[in-house]
Amino acid sequence: MRVLVIGSGGREHALVWALKRSSRVSHLVCAPGNGGIARDAACHPISPADQRAVLDLAISQKIDLVVIGPEAPLAAGLADFLSEHGLPTMGPTRAAARLECSKVFAKEFMARHDIPTAQFSVHETPERALSAIESREVRYPLVVKADGLAAGKGVVVVQDPQKAAEAIRRMMVEREFGSAGEKVVLEEFLAGKEVSYIVFTDGSTTVPAVAARDHKAAYDNDRGPNTGGMGAFSTDDILAPELEKYVLDKVIHPVIRGMEKEGCPFKGILYAGLMLTPGGPKVLEFNVRMGDPEGQVILPRLGSDFAVLCENLALGKLADCRVEWSASSAICIVLASGGYPGAYSKGKVISGIEMAEENPKVFVFHAGTRRLGSSLVTDGGRVLGVTAVDRDLGSAMVVAYEAVNKIRFDGMQYRRDIGASGLASR
Ligand code: AMP
Ligand code: GLY
Repeated sequence: MRVLVIGSGGREHALVWALKRSSRVSHLVCAPGNGGIARDAACHPISPADQRAVLDLAISQKIDLVVIGPEAPLAAGLADFLSEHGLPTMGPTRAAARLECSKVFAKEFMARHDIPTAQFSVHETPERALSAIESREVRYPLVVKADGLAAGKGVVVVQDPQKAAEAIRRMMVEREFGSAGEKVVLEEFLAGKEVSYIVFTDGSTTVPAVAARDHKAAYDNDRGPNTGGMGAFSTDDILAPELEKYVLDKVIHPVIRGMEKEGCPFKGILYAGLMLTPGGPKVLEFNVRMGDPEGQVILPRLGSDFAVLCENLALGKLADCRVEWSASSAICIVLASGGYPGAYSKGKVISGIEMAEENPKVFVFHAGTRRLGSSLVTDGGRVLGVTAVDRDLGSAMVVAYEAVNKIRFDGMQYRRDIGASGLASR
């Protein structure tokens, strides 16, 4: 089977890595890829936004299956376009991708289908949003969310009306996230531990992945601005079996049934970002693709053939597929450019990856990297994801941080507490 992966981040490197382990895959292509993916797949400098170019590449490379990594091409309808041209594709349609691409759609969908989530209100002008925060009923902390895609950065938790007004102005007036700020959602703050719960579905059969926990805040102890994710871990005890059953019954299955009923069946990877509140799990957000960095801890725990899983999903035959997960623990520490998620510079020389990978329990996934002559240089905010897999979380953390200590680039920034919340719960 010849497979094309779309995207250029750490998630796509993990997808390529998992596909490469399959005996069914004879050739791997990635567009556009990055400095690390180039070791594992033939990279083509094609933008995922150029649908025609992606199709031409798939045809010229005789591709049997396309796996779309990021949300932006899904939101733009790349899966629809490729499927219309007869290419088996893993990724939801543009209409189904609204679950991630519009927080207003997602919240109103959850309200229509009685899916547990935080209380919310939607505002279409800054005046309305600003007058809403003056209401006595608003409780703080309050969560202010830009409606559209903002690379994980369009959500702000505010402690008082002044900060709420500031966030609303930045999103709706200054348009810090562009058109994503045309509408905002004001949402009840939920306290608890977060879980990323990800399933594969062809619309009728659902195959859950092992659960993971992301660390979205930039700095240790969950301080600082939200990022795309600074690290993640996956262990068997993140989500107790009775909670998993609740999530499947009250969230995942109602979403799949609801999307079908509303005429936009969901086929692909469905990611429910959950808060485990004292009143039960509640949905913070949906994503319509593998999480990043969650994919970098989930895929290394897959004990069966990923290419077979992807192919069966794309062909609507997931029921035929047996999927197994290892009982190990995995952790991923994101190494970011100094300044991320704000402004950062690129082009810093990276060293030490080979040394880090000498330990067979370590996998270094590349995100923002690029080859420059014989060097590897930084090329984005999140640069590398250092993953370690071991028998338990504590051992995986030790192995991962030992590997991190071998890697260097100017301004390298990372969290020192990835995984700590998983140890504390024992
Ligand atoms: P979202 O993109 O909606 O998942 O939001 C990004 C992050 O903001 C989440 O992973 C949480 O850490 C935080 N967040 C979002 N909504 C809430 C909420 N209602 N209460 C508390 N934290 C939230
Ligand atoms: N790590 C969060 C996300 O993939 O959206």
